[in-house]
Amino acid sequence: MSTDAQIEEFYKEQTIFLTGGTGFLGKILIEKLLRQCWDLNKIYVLVRPKKGKSSKERFKEFFEYACFDLIKCKNLSEKVFLISGDIQKPFLGLGVQDAELLKKETTCVIHAAANVKFDQTLKEASHNVRATRDVLELAKQMPNLKVSSKTLQLFMKYYFKVFVHVSTAFSNCVHSHIEERFYTPPMKSETFLGLVDDLDDNTLQAITPKLLGEYPNTYIYTKCITEDLVKTNLQVPKAIVRPAIVIGTIEEPVPGWVDNLYGAIGIVLAAALGVLRSLHAKKSNLSHLVPVDYVANCILAAAWKAHRSGTTTIYNYTGDTKNMITWGEFMELIDGQCWDFPTEKIVWYFCFKLRENELWHKICVFFLHTVAAYFADFVLICVGRTTIAVKNYRRLDKMMDLISYFSTRSWTFEQDNVLELWDQMGKDDKKMFKFSMEDTDWVKYTRDSILGGRMYLLKETLDTIPKGKKKLKILFVIHYAVVALFWYSLYKFLMFVASSLYGNF
Ligand SMILES: NC(=O)c1ccc[n+]([C@@H]2O[C@H](COP(=O)([O-])OP(=O)(O)OC[C@H]3O[C@@H](n4cnc5c(N)ncnc54)[C@H](OP(=O)(O)O)[C@@H]3O)[C@@H](O)[C@H]2O)c1
Repeated sequence: MSTDAQIEEFYKEQTIFLTGGTGFLGKILIEKLLRQCWDLNKIYVLVRPKKGKSSKERFKEFFEYACFDLIKCKNLSEKVFLISGDIQKPFLGLGVQDAELLKKETTCVIHAAANVKFDQTLKEASHNVRATRDVLELAKQMPNLKVSSKTLQLFMKYYFKVFVHVSTAFSNCVHSHIEERFYTPPMKSETFLGLVDDLDDNTLQAITPKLLGEYPNTYIYTKCITEDLVKTNLQVPKAIVRPAIVIGTIEEPVPGWVDNLYGAIGIVLAAALGVLRSLHAKKSNLSHLVPVDYVANCILAAAWKAHRSGTTTIYNYTGDTKNMITWGEFMELIDGQCWDFPTEKIVWYFCFKLRENELWHKICVFFLHTVAAYFADFVLICVGRTTIAVKNYRRLDKMMDLISYFSTRSWTFEQDNVLELWDQMGKDDKKMFKFSMEDTDWVKYTRDSILGGRMYLLKETLDTIPKGKKKLKILFVIHYAVVALFWYSLYKFLMFVASSLYGNF
């Protein structure tokens, strides 16, 4: 192996404990580690029971996801092991044996698990803090032999080397310029957890807005507190990686892979389906979109660097300032791709717009979402089907309102540590663990994202594109017929009002 491939070398013989491995980012982290760093020792993945399936059942089905297609030929059970647990339970819900195993063998922790919903209650979100505390407590009990001699280190198979915490670029979004440093949290973790434990649900709900203050939601609030926990605990090299808005893969394992419906991906999908027609957003604001595979590479490189430098570093991974696109540019590109690759499942003509004026946006939402939803449900009732439109639009509009905090504000992010990390990587490492977005081709990336969304989220193959195009053309005619009818009716109504008031002209 060339001396330039230091990151791959670093993961050789590592035993990684990964939380959040079953998530969007976690899957790509696991896939990359197994494809690129097969010489690692083991990956222990924390899996909780979910949707009626036990951890074991979920783990058994885990490698069926399309993102693992390239590595299915390998004997994955040799490297990846299940740890049953749940971050909502005390001490991560770990069994005694599993906890002992992790303490004995882990050499690197990557903590990525979190409840990422923006609309969760403070009690639900508090598990993000509690889990981080518990992962840190567990890590404290992993043999952390401070061996400075490299020769001696080679003989020590198990010693805990590095802790990586996945945060978010918006954990300190109450500041408009975000540096790569720790900020004072809104509350200390012990005080926060004490408060959540002491207060009943109703009282906690009632005081939540006051507690949140300027923080936009409970997710961000708890993510901010967790950073302080990482700062004040555990004396090993640490890396805190703060990705901005994570979307589908740009390159690996295949371009356009995605399995997550939150945030920007949700917006694109809802727009492509013709369901979402208005979003309150400032078109000229930078979008800070980052591909999930680059985020994974940045995390893996940051762990290598933390071990090499022996220090704690924060990385604002928010895209390359020299090659960023605005929300307006992004949606324009998506618009073009939706025309070229429309989905067969499209329900209405693609007429999505970003609207900067809040009042105008609300008027549009009323007519294009609310009135349209009631009309759709009326039609469903007439044909004897169950109504779904009003209920789904309420949920969609609520989600978009939560997102609008981020789409109407702008931030600048310091990125010195990210740039330095990239500069310090060798030529081979840069190829294998690429995360620089300097040369990102946004046209290609948005095209791959739309094709990936069709394939992995809507489960549509490429041969459905002609059907999608035909449907889009029909919906185009229907849409403009409805628009013409609306304006004609409005004109007639206004004429009627005018003639009632002033008589015939
Ligand atoms: N996506 C983004 O845009 C973005 C941006 C910035 C930062 N991040 C951070 O990146 C990390 C990963 O996010 P993601 O986008 O991959 O989200 P995700 O797909 O929702 O994944 C979240 C992960 O956390 C796990 N988790 C949640 N509650 C759990 C519980 N009670 N017990 C055990 N595991 C639990 C989930 O397990 P299940 O599979 O069991 O649900 C899943 O593996 C998070 O820390 C998030 O804050 C994400």
